[in-house]
Amino acid sequence: MKTITIGTQTAHVGETAELCRALADEVETLLKERAAEGRLAVLGLATGSTPLPFYDELIRRHREEGLSFSNAVTFNLDEYEGLGREHERSYWHEMWCNLFDHLDIKAENVSVPPSVSEDPDRDAAAYEEAIREAGGIDWQLLGIGGEGHIGFNEKGSAIDTRTRRVTLARKTIVDAAPGFGGEDKVPTHAITMGVATILEARRVVLMARGASKREIVKRAMTGEVSSEVPASFLQNHQNAGWFLDEEAAGSGSDA
Ligand code: GLP
Repeated sequence: MKTITIGTQTAHVGETAELCRALADEVETLLKERAAEGRLAVLGLATGSTPLPFYDELIRRHREEGLSFSNAVTFNLDEYEGLGREHERSYWHEMWCNLFDHLDIKAENVSVPPSVSEDPDRDAAAYEEAIREAGGIDWQLLGIGGEGHIGFNEKGSAIDTRTRRVTLARKTIVDAAPGFGGEDKVPTHAITMGVATILEARRVVLMARGASKREIVKRAMTGEVSSEVPASFLQNHQNAGWFLDEEAAGSGSDA
């Protein structure tokens, strides 16, 4: 893995396995430091296909090396509206299948925004409050959507947005359609942490893999910082890291 500068940003570029090991090293260090102090480590987690090999690496370290998640508290970025937890495309379900079921994390320490809510505003405020009560997010993982969204903060999401109900962009629905068996089956709304919620994390890492992400990653890292590309707000974060495979980085040729 190499570390290069793209625009004003630091990018870690390498093979997926290397990126996953580097990210897992950060999490392992945090968990162990906090455990030594008798404290909890607060992780912000993401869904999508991008983080799956990273989650596999965390599971491997738990199984083979005894890395414990008993002092981990997690908050997921977002959730589709209306599916319910048991739906196989719900982020709750994905997170348990792909990660939590395989760790020693305490179920009560896991939070995913509610998929079904009678009062989304109230539940969104409660999610923010829960993050505050936990002491804020230490380490936040992000993927990036086709138009530069983080969580479900679509184009137009302002820097001061908080956890809230949002309408999904057309591109987001089209991208999600294969997993749902058709565009008409993809929820039209979601609940997501806001841009401000994300930026308050003490460390933010964005992971991107594949050539399909190359253009948007470049815009996010080198373009104007604006709600047009919400991931661009990371440019002004004090402690942001971009973890890119060669395809997403454009092999660093534009660096
Ligand atoms: C969804 C999620 C995002 C994720 C994005 C990219 O929209 N809400 O958090 O970053 O998909 O998904 P993938 O990693 O599959 O490309």
